[in-house]
Amino acid sequence: MTVHIGAKPGEIAETVLMPGDPLRAKWAAERFLENPVCVNEVRGMLGFTGTWKGNRVTIHGSGMGMPSLSIYANELIKDYGAKTLIRIGSCGAMQEKVALRDVILATTSSTLSTPSSGIFRELNFAPCADFGLLHKAYHVAEGRGMPIHVGGIYSSDVFYDERPDLNEQMQRHGILAVEMEAAELYTLAARYGCRALAVLTVSDHLLTEEALPSEDRQSSFSDMVEIALEAAFA
Ligand code: HPA
Repeated sequence: MTVHIGAKPGEIAETVLMPGDPLRAKWAAERFLENPVCVNEVRGMLGFTGTWKGNRVTIHGSGMGMPSLSIYANELIKDYGAKTLIRIGSCGAMQEKVALRDVILATTSSTLSTPSSGIFRELNFAPCADFGLLHKAYHVAEGRGMPIHVGGIYSSDVFYDERPDLNEQMQRHGILAVEMEAAELYTLAARYGCRALAVLTVSDHLLTEEALPSEDRQSSFSDMVEIALEAAFA
C-alpha cells in the first residue's frame, strides 16, 4: 500500500493504462481484460489488474490534471515497479486539419509548468514519448484506418482558460491539441527510465467549438484502449 493506492505488492502490472476517469478504468477493465480484479479504490480512484492476450495489465485512473496524474504515476512507478505507462484520454483540437474523433499520438507536450518544473529551474525540459510505443501505436491506428495525427500537444493546467493568447501561440506553432496530463507523465517516465505514451481522441474543437456527444466518446475510448494494448504488447 502507498498513500494513494491500496494495492498489495505485486498487484500492479508492469504495463499500466491510465484514463483520467476512474469509471472509465472500470469499464475498460471489465470489457477488455480477462479476470479483472479491483486493486485500488482509495479516494474512489479505481485501478484494476487482469490479463489481455495472456499479458498482465493494470488499468488505473489518473484523475484530471498533472498534479493528480503525478501522484498516481509516481507511486505506480516508484512503489509498484510500473515500466510502461500509457495515458488514454480526450483532448481539444487546436488545428483546422484535426477533426472530432481523430486520434492524436503526442510526440511531445508543451506546458507552462508541470509538478516537476521546480527541479529544472531555468531549463525548458522537452518531455517526449517513447518512440517504440509511438511507432507501434501509429501502425495499429493506421492499420485500422483511423484518422491519426502525430505531433506536439499542450498540457494545460486549466480547462477554463483565461489566456486565449497562449492558445493562439500554440496554434501558430503547430500544436495539435490541448489536454491536461501528458507532459508530467512523459517527464516522470524520463526520470525513472520508463516508457510512456499519450493516445488521445479529440472530444472537442477549440476553433469550431464542436463537441462529441457522450455515446461517441465511449466508442472513441474503446479505440484508444485497443491501440494502447496493441502498442504495449504487439
Ligand atoms: N482543454 C483542456 N483539456 C481538455 C480539453 C480542452 O479543451 N478537451 C479535453 N481535454
